[in-house]
Amino acid sequence: MQISLWKNNTPTDSLLLLLREEDCGDLSSFDKDLREILSALINRKDVSGKKGSLLRVPLIEGNLYLIGLGKKEKCSLNLIRDSLAWGLRTIGKNHGVKALVLLRHLNEYEGLPSALGEAGGLCGYVFDTYKTKDKDYEPFSLSEIYSDVYDDKVSEGMKLAEAQIFSRSIANEPGCAVCPSTMAEKAKALAEQYGLQCEVWDEKRLADEKMGALLAVGSGSKNPPRLIHLTYKPKGTPSKKIAFVGKGITFDSGGLNIKPDNYMLTMKGDKTGACNVLGIMKGVAELGLNVEVHGFMSCAENMPSGSSYRPDDIITARNGKTIEINNTDAEGRLVLSDALCAASELKPDVIIDMATLTGACAVALGKYRAGLFTNDDDLAGKILASSERRGEPYWRMPLEDEHISESLKSPFADLVNCGERYGGAIFAALFLKEFVADGIKWAHMDIAGVDFRDKEYGIYPKGATSFGVRTCLDYLMRL
Ligand code: BES
Ligand code: MN
Ligand code: ZN
Repeated sequence: MQISLWKNNTPTDSLLLLLREEDCGDLSSFDKDLREILSALINRKDVSGKKGSLLRVPLIEGNLYLIGLGKKEKCSLNLIRDSLAWGLRTIGKNHGVKALVLLRHLNEYEGLPSALGEAGGLCGYVFDTYKTKDKDYEPFSLSEIYSDVYDDKVSEGMKLAEAQIFSRSIANEPGCAVCPSTMAEKAKALAEQYGLQCEVWDEKRLADEKMGALLAVGSGSKNPPRLIHLTYKPKGTPSKKIAFVGKGITFDSGGLNIKPDNYMLTMKGDKTGACNVLGIMKGVAELGLNVEVHGFMSCAENMPSGSSYRPDDIITARNGKTIEINNTDAEGRLVLSDALCAASELKPDVIIDMATLTGACAVALGKYRAGLFTNDDDLAGKILASSERRGEPYWRMPLEDEHISESLKSPFADLVNCGERYGGAIFAALFLKEFVADGIKWAHMDIAGVDFRDKEYGIYPKGATSFGVRTCLDYLMRL
């Protein structure tokens, strides 16, 4: 996609306009020709700025698309970003090639050019790798966007979009196409492209490095586990050192505690945390941020077989803590435990982990809001501010609970990996805390539920959402 500043004589075939209800009563910011069309449409009540409305008006030179934003008092940049993506996607599906987006009347919303870049960059992405592109296949045709609001933040938004597409395009791949070693290849290719350091630990190295928890989870699959570590170092002296840790279960069958059929479906998405870490590393490199960033991806396939780890097994994580397995389907916290130890050893200022960790979190917060757990109020404030700016909602969850903490104890080992159903998301977070070294600021994002969409919505197509990438990149940009 190419996004440029519009000049009066730029030829376009599609015009996109987002209107609040109040804008329909004051058309003075539009030029005369447009004002005439709009006032006719408004007079005969075809257009009112109603939230969620989309109207296509055929004109001689092309199409005018009108999207309603609703009342001014409720309108936000996040709604505008979603509406832009929706409008541009609609144009691209309707054979539009060059679109003009008029946004000057919305200039009061801070961050508008970046949101335009993001919506423009994301509007054309769909996961169609495996679809036969026959005569009925309609490719997305939009390739150029022009706007009357334009500055260098547009390209920032486009870089954010690329980072998200990178994450989504891997997360969408099924388990037969992406296994732990594939994740390692993707990481190596990314490192090659941007000059990052990339270290991959295979199963032999994992044993030498005492990563007993990751090895246990991966033991049932013919596709062996991998720990991947990418490092980005800025040219100058970095302002901070931040480590990301992503859960990379390329397929979660549950293992010997096998999932029932309808729960196993969609579990190709259990690697989204790791895919997001890849996306973040790409974004950081593209944006050239002045922060040292480490990306750990803890990858395994959780399968039942004669070599699987079993319920009742006692395993030892990298920091020496022993874990009694009471459910092989609570595997995410295990692969993260070893990786959190490895990240802690670098003594970063902050560790952020991301994982499709618990169904309980999705039950608590729904499919549009992720859980945030952190041991630091200042970090919570910064992450929540970034999330608000970028339209990825989180809810801070408790990381103190003496009763649930008590249930982490095992009679035979230091910890059990699974507690009772109630408070399942908090149990998992408290379990992870056992592997973060004392004194390190840490945040855990439980993205189960928000990682995939079953229908197109705003900036999201069907499939992987890369939820978390935008928030984390925004956080890093402000350090
Ligand atoms: N990957 C799942 C969590 C999940 C569930 C993600 C639904 C996205 C949608 C995780 O590994 C898991 O199986 N969790 C169990 C934990 C339980 C065994 C304590 C769960 O949520 O049921
Ligand atoms: Mn599981
Ligand atoms: Zn899982």
